[in-house]
Amino acid sequence: MLIFRSVSEIQTWLSIQKNDSRSIGFVPTMGALHSGHISLIAQSNLESEITVCSIFVNPTQFNDASDLEKYPRTLQADSFLLSKARCAVLFYPSVAEIYPTDLPEVILDLDGLDQVMEGEHRPGHFKGVVQVVHRLLDIVQPHRLYMGQKDFQQFTIIGHMIKKLNMSTQLVVCATSREPHGLAMSSRNVRLSSVGRMQAALIYTTLMHAVESRHREQPEALSTSCFEVLNQDPFKAEYVQIVHIESLKSVTSWKEPGQKAICAAVWLEGVRLIDNILIP
Ligand code: PAJ
Repeated sequence: MLIFRSVSEIQTWLSIQKNDSRSIGFVPTMGALHSGHISLIAQSNLESEITVCSIFVNPTQFNDASDLEKYPRTLQADSFLLSKARCAVLFYPSVAEIYPTDLPEVILDLDGLDQVMEGEHRPGHFKGVVQVVHRLLDIVQPHRLYMGQKDFQQFTIIGHMIKKLNMSTQLVVCATSREPHGLAMSSRNVRLSSVGRMQAALIYTTLMHAVESRHREQPEALSTSCFEVLNQDPFKAEYVQIVHIESLKSVTSWKEPGQKAICAAVWLEGVRLIDNILIP
């Protein structure tokens, strides 16, 4: 696996590959890789000749300084996992490479997509995500961008950005990888105790139960009852919402057309966990 730290080096190498008509798949990450991330690498390898993974803990998307500080950094283990997964390139830039002082600001109307759910509880978070993904796409210029369904609102917003700015990259969304008992894999799970990790399965089972109960209860009542379940000790629920997947507007009646999803954010043992399930 090739490792690049500077923008000019990776761009020089990628331009040679593109001149040889090789297709590029790109998987942006913040490291502390687990099998959820690796499933994106595997999908990219299936569809693209070269997979580029970036590891960059983006300071501008953390609205909580202690979360940024506590974010796990495991470069050696990450490189090992990426090599094993046959990732061709690791891009591991410094903050100065990503944010040079003369970098223009990304001006983009998110049409309110950043005002609900995660956006409401993590002010400024999506502005940072848009800024960094835009910068990374500008550097790598991949044919395809691979993102996880796990971060539902994130891929919706990035899909919106790609469309609004007429970017040529195709967004590919990959299914959420889960622990055997259902907990969505996340870099933050390592901060849970072994008991907490088992208890956290309640998030997935509650969302699954809601999906199964959708014929018996209207959306608002259903999300309220899920909130109550996920707000009992030792959990603290931040939100449970049933939304339309493109507008992220709340669903008020099942009769409303279009694909829907149930999304939740829950605290357990000081760790913030998010999950979602599409509603068939
Ligand atoms: P990070 O949390 O490292 O996630 C990188 C990618 O892996 C995202 O697209 C995320 O949705 C996906 N992912 C995480 N857990 C997953 C799981 N259990 N199953 C499938 N995919 C999963 O998301 C970010 O980093 C950052 O916000 C980033 C996009 C890199 C911008 O800084």
